[in-house]
Amino acid sequence: MQVGIIGLGAVGLSFASVLGSKGISVIGMDSDLKKIEKITSKKSPFFEPKLDSFLKKALSKSLEISSDIEKTVKNCDLIFLTVGTPKSKSGFIDLSMIKNASRNIGISLRHSSKKPIIVVKSTVIPGTTINVIKPLIEKTSRKKDGKGFEILANPEFLREGNVIDDTLKPHLVVIGGSNKNSINRLKKFYHKLYDAKIKFMTTNTQTAEMIKYANNSFLATKISFINQISSLCQSISGISIDEVAEGIGVDPRIGRLFLNAGPGYGGSCLPKDLETIIQFSSKSGANPILLKAVQQINDLQIKQIVRLLEKNLGTVRNKHITILGLSFKENSDDIRESRSIELIKILLKKKSKITVHDPKAMKNTESIFKNKITYADSLLKSLDNCHCVVIMTPWKIYTKLKNNSFKNMKRKLIIDTRRILSRKNLNVEYFALGMGN
Ligand code: UGA
Repeated sequence: MQVGIIGLGAVGLSFASVLGSKGISVIGMDSDLKKIEKITSKKSPFFEPKLDSFLKKALSKSLEISSDIEKTVKNCDLIFLTVGTPKSKSGFIDLSMIKNASRNIGISLRHSSKKPIIVVKSTVIPGTTINVIKPLIEKTSRKKDGKGFEILANPEFLREGNVIDDTLKPHLVVIGGSNKNSINRLKKFYHKLYDAKIKFMTTNTQTAEMIKYANNSFLATKISFINQISSLCQSISGISIDEVAEGIGVDPRIGRLFLNAGPGYGGSCLPKDLETIIQFSSKSGANPILLKAVQQINDLQIKQIVRLLEKNLGTVRNKHITILGLSFKENSDDIRESRSIELIKILLKKKSKITVHDPKAMKNTESIFKNKITYADSLLKSLDNCHCVVIMTPWKIYTKLKNNSFKNMKRKLIIDTRRILSRKNLNVEYFALGMGN
């Protein structure tokens, strides 16, 4: 079976690399020629642990990279749609890339003898597969769903920084569709792919699409819940939010995962998916009060950090503040919706002097702030002469900081939004989100 993957972002490229590394014949297609050039030179266009080695192996085995959608569609029996569905200016999901890809798939199918299964992996609002993608393919291919092609929804649950492991071993495979035969063919494909026993769930396309939104909304809710409790803990002497999370996390009805309080959730998924489901709910006549509160709490976290800074520094104007960690999470160079970027924007407005450090995300940050901030060559240099350091992303390297690391600071003031230094006996002024002093 020849597999095609349209869209080589984090999801598409990791999937193509895993399939290719296992010797499955796969064409990875993207219309961005610069990206194609980078990938064919065996380098991922973004930082993701393990991806480069899987990509290398895949290219040497059975992964072909192409910018030709017609060739991909005409040659493949199973076509995964993994193009991005980013945030539009209004905050709602932007479907232009997926609509464009659907039209091009249809045009390519017009004179093709194949009857492929088209599998929508991109995150789309409930109803999009059957109300938007299917009609576009039908119109441009002049063929009917069920006759000229089949269509299924198959959302993914990959976490950046973990995409290879999550691709190799998903916690669940959700398949939405109405044609039993194509569902079974996709299931068979996955059974062959995974060594481990993988859980499957089959349903209709709308439910599959909704599961993805409900999943991300619930994760965001868990984070905002713990952040709300964290704010309360901060005002009570002797309490640490991590111990509270530990305690409630033991209850199997709650679970410990996604209860790490911090500066709020960022990234290209949770903020966008929350905003989209809120707008979608309002348009559908449901009142998303809980989800709106989740968003509000997330926005409050940054304000709390600024308040802590102002409380301790008096004013942040002309103060040298070092921000450690720019990516929205560790093991990633992605700064989309990163809380660090938001914090820097606020502090620049207040005329602070900002120095930044991150093991992987400096280049991406430079493209936003240019020469408005200072980019430190090393972690230790970033601390020189600053009035305060704010730890934003829990990179492992920051856990190694010790008393001596802070010796050249103008004032030894640390604000640790992830409490990664909370167990160390530091001779500094130390404030952490979620810890009462
Ligand atoms: C998220 C979901 O976790 C994936 O299941 C989903 O497939 C993906 O979105 C997507 O829709 O494609 P991701 O955006 O990679 O994955 O990152 P997360 O691990 O969910 O983290 C999101 C943010 O929440 C980060 O800023 C992280 O630091 C923060 N976070 C996470 C916390 O503040 N506390 C936690 O306990 C967990």
